[in-house]
Amino acid sequence: INSGNSFRVASPASDVASELADIDWDNLGFGFMPTDYMYSMKCSQGENFSKGELQRFGNIELSPSAGILNYGQGLFEGLKAYRKHDGNILLFRPEENATRLKMGAERMCMPSPSVEQFVEAVKATVLANERWIPPPGKGSLYIRPLLMGSGAVLGLAPAPEYTFLIYVSPVGNYFKEGLAPINLVVETEMHRATPGGTGGVKTIGNYAAVLKAQSAAKAKGYSDVLYLDCVQKKYLEEVSSCNVFIVKGNLIVTPAIKGTILPGITRKSIIDVAISQGFEVEERQVSVDELLDADEVFCTGTAVVVSPVGSITHQGRRVTYGNDGVGLVSQQLYSALTSLQMGLSEDKMGWIVE
Ligand code: COI
Repeated sequence: INSGNSFRVASPASDVASELADIDWDNLGFGFMPTDYMYSMKCSQGENFSKGELQRFGNIELSPSAGILNYGQGLFEGLKAYRKHDGNILLFRPEENATRLKMGAERMCMPSPSVEQFVEAVKATVLANERWIPPPGKGSLYIRPLLMGSGAVLGLAPAPEYTFLIYVSPVGNYFKEGLAPINLVVETEMHRATPGGTGGVKTIGNYAAVLKAQSAAKAKGYSDVLYLDCVQKKYLEEVSSCNVFIVKGNLIVTPAIKGTILPGITRKSIIDVAISQGFEVEERQVSVDELLDADEVFCTGTAVVVSPVGSITHQGRRVTYGNDGVGLVSQQLYSALTSLQMGLSEDKMGWIVE
């Protein structure tokens, strides 16, 4: 596989074929499955990324003193490739992920690939792993770009070398509930992000920071945790892995982007889809009281897509939504977005890259 001179396949892969044959495409969850190839590109601090290559998927070698291991200098992205019935492969807004990675890299003192390099690398990795893309309607190929300080550093400073890496894995539904509504608990003690911190970029540490509250919630039977702002402790931020929306009549509201909330690409897309379908959409502070009074609640993210919320528990009070089913608005927006992503409806927004 070649695209100009920017990347090349290091060696063919064949020894994972039997695992591919074993996949139950009807029951894909959101777990890691090794595939054939990964993409890798390196550059030194103060330089630009220039030349990457496809390599056999496998473990990578890092100095124990690598910036990523010692000081968490790293970012990740997430996007998906879908297989269409006509055989074409579709990406959803990959240049948005590229732009978000650049923003994050600036915050984390890292060089980043250009938007073109990012999108080309994603395309190359998807094509090299084409046989791992689930059949139409059975899931997608999740694409995980990573950007990390891979050079050795001991005194606290930006790493001297950076690695941009992409691997992929076939996935189905994120939550074990599948498309059934999830049950969230509002976390009142631990917080995900602080003003001036890194909550608004996709740095790896943001995700380690939520594991304690998430594990405790799961142990009590909840699907995940909904975080509040750390100043007034009464306004919604986001769920561990996704953004949150509430619905009241024709009004859809989601917390505004203000540095502590991840600017989700699905979030942004759902706002546009909802407006195009005649909903009124507001991005602003959303209080817990407003949440508990909503008609419907749903979450959005690349991994979770549009996930309806069946209940929210706050300080022991449990409020249910959607009469034990999926709310009508959540269902409508889920269908509109996924039919676009899977190439089943006309791409009026110009979001699809074949
Ligand atoms: C995604 O939705 O792609 C994410 O990056 C969230 C991750 C925790 C699975």
